[in-house]
Amino acid sequence: MDLKQQVAIVTGGDSGIGRAISLALAAAGAAVTLNFHQNQAAADEVRGQIEQRGGRALAVQGDVSQVADLQALVDQTVAAFGRLDIMVNNAGMETRTSLLESAEQDFDRTIAVNLKGAFFGTQCAAKQMIVQGGGGRIINISSVHEDWPMPGNTPYCCAKGGVRMLTRTAGVELAPHRITVVGVGPGAVATPINRETLADPEQKQALEEAIPEGRIARPEDIAGLVVWLASAQSAYVTATTYFIDGGLMQGSVGL
Ligand code: BGC
Repeated sequence: MDLKQQVAIVTGGDSGIGRAISLALAAAGAAVTLNFHQNQAAADEVRGQIEQRGGRALAVQGDVSQVADLQALVDQTVAAFGRLDIMVNNAGMETRTSLLESAEQDFDRTIAVNLKGAFFGTQCAAKQMIVQGGGGRIINISSVHEDWPMPGNTPYCCAKGGVRMLTRTAGVELAPHRITVVGVGPGAVATPINRETLADPEQKQALEEAIPEGRIARPEDIAGLVVWLASAQSAYVTATTYFIDGGLMQGSVGL
């Protein structure tokens, strides 16, 4: 996969799936701006790895729930690398609270980061892509839970359900500009968002048994699909979601 001359942004690029995506896009030749919210050291580590391998990278602090921060992310990327070809709306969080337990701030923050962040990340990126011309790729990191209930994680499911329709609707709206919008729906991935499950041997085993492939994904498994979706080979893919879950959704009796 050759992404030389391409410029990418990855929100939440300092950790988990976003970190693997940043490294993989850079390995394919793209210049990468990795956004981080709090962990400057982690972002610098990823940037350093990319630069050591001869790549171009920039680490930019910002809260994806703030439109001004997203616009600054695009502006700083264009100032450093001249353009923007690939926008990966990856930053995400969850509260693991049910409908009955969720406080107002659980709902607001989860929707703000996962859905509002992806919505305005898509808007800011698309405006830049339209101005420069030539199309682009917007990739929204969603979840199996855009389509599949996760009791006890209700605000997250609501947000990811919104990301599902953002991807479909924006994909249709932006098609005339040759900008594709695609969702990636991972299942269980070994990242900090799953910290508690992975730390509990019983919960971890139950999860692995529910996955037909028999293992939790590595962030790199997801990054490989994102690189392909960012490449010229996926030009005809838009307004849809690729699930990458080791068969989790189909293997569940609950679906
Ligand atoms: C959630 C995890 C969950 C996984 C599989 C992810 O989107 O963030 O908490 O374990 O889906 O259900």
